[in-house]
Amino acid sequence: MEQYVIKGGNPLVGEVEIGGAKNAALGILAASVMTSDPVIIENLPDVKDTEVLIQAMQSVGTIVERIDRHTVKVIAANITSFTIDDGFIKKIRASYYMLGALLGRFNEADVALPGGCNIGSRPIDQHLKGFRALGAKVEVSRGMISAKADNLVGNHIYMDVVTVGATINVMLAATLATGKTIIENAAKEPHVVDVANFLNSMGANIKGAGTDVIRIRGVEKLHGTTYSIIPDQIEAGTFMFAAAITKGDITIRNIIPKHLESISAKLIEIGCEIEESDDCLRVVAARRLSSTHVKTLPYPGFPTDMQPQIATTLALCEGTSIVTESIFENRFKYVGELQRMGANIKVEGNTAIIQGVDSFCGASISAPDLRAGAALVLAALAAEGITVIEDIEYIERGYEDFPEKMSSLGALMEKAQTDRDIQKFKLKVG
Ligand code: EPZ
Repeated sequence: MEQYVIKGGNPLVGEVEIGGAKNAALGILAASVMTSDPVIIENLPDVKDTEVLIQAMQSVGTIVERIDRHTVKVIAANITSFTIDDGFIKKIRASYYMLGALLGRFNEADVALPGGCNIGSRPIDQHLKGFRALGAKVEVSRGMISAKADNLVGNHIYMDVVTVGATINVMLAATLATGKTIIENAAKEPHVVDVANFLNSMGANIKGAGTDVIRIRGVEKLHGTTYSIIPDQIEAGTFMFAAAITKGDITIRNIIPKHLESISAKLIEIGCEIEESDDCLRVVAARRLSSTHVKTLPYPGFPTDMQPQIATTLALCEGTSIVTESIFENRFKYVGELQRMGANIKVEGNTAIIQGVDSFCGASISAPDLRAGAALVLAALAAEGITVIEDIEYIERGYEDFPEKMSSLGALMEKAQTDRDIQKFKLKVG
């Protein structure tokens, strides 16, 4: 299995370009099958998750032409099936966006039921509640969700919890419904706004995305468009914390500073300097950083997808920090791996109590999930000695060219296929 091998200790210095937002891309790819006209999607991140969703789209008859590494042309003029099977859902849960897209366009969809995953049970009751409110008959049996409707009709839907997935999925289904839909207690993440803007560029009538009330007036049909995906807030945040944990100085290009406000605020709180301009920002961590407390919250609060990265950084900061995970119930699985590197962290329920230590030691560790894996890379970059990280396929689901981007900043990091590659790396770096 492929591994990352890293020799820590180098401050990361230089410039890095951020790619398109994975979690916007998944909603936008699904939405692109809602028209028979050609759709061009630009700034698409080249990661495993988007690759799998494209395969799911192709499995129902969609033609997807790759124009270049970050641009595809989607033609959903000849959809031959409304079924998305288990194979895709097992690889990425967000294949369930095809439910909202196919139901919205064809009044029918059969999608495998997503299970829980490494960070929690992740129910989809709010998705199903929204589809039923629009008039769909939704049955769950034998591991499949079957949704059918004579005609979807707009309704007033109140989300019991703030959920990105359900907000996007219900928005997809409501776009072509008859009449008006209001989604209350909607998620406000930048990627929710990006999917709404994409749909509006196809002729949809969606207002209020980015607030907690989204108003959708159903339209007859959607037309083709050319659309560029927003920069990835979480990839950007990960590199911001890479500067902090390695006491580096990184300029992060192609970002929207507004989307990073909660992340920048925390970095300033622990002692980093941040210089912002309209599409880039610079993070400088010149001295030992200090502790803070953080609680993950829906946007614009501190993102849960940045929780492992800040906790890992705080484990090397002066003093005691407290990190509270309020979104998912099992998102501290990486703490055991950090403890093997010398971290002093105690997890009690959904809270981690972190006593800062002076340094980490390199170790052999494994990535339990996507963002935890990225955090373990940060730990390895700051550690003394060599770290080998297993199960990197999780990380490559959401980070394009991660070793190459880190190496361009001065990291000693490579992807190894064999133990021999690891030995060669060790000889090279000394
Ligand atoms: C999206 O997951 C992201 N994934 C996640 O990023 C992210 O962590 C999460 O939003 C929160 O920001 C994608 O966009 C593909 P939710 P999603 O529905 O939509 C509960 C990454 O690393 N809930 O906002 O599945 C749920 O259990 C991934 O890129 C219900 O109770 O998250 C959770 O506690 C990891 N019922 C909370 O809501 C539902 O029907 C938020 O979940 C749906 C969700």
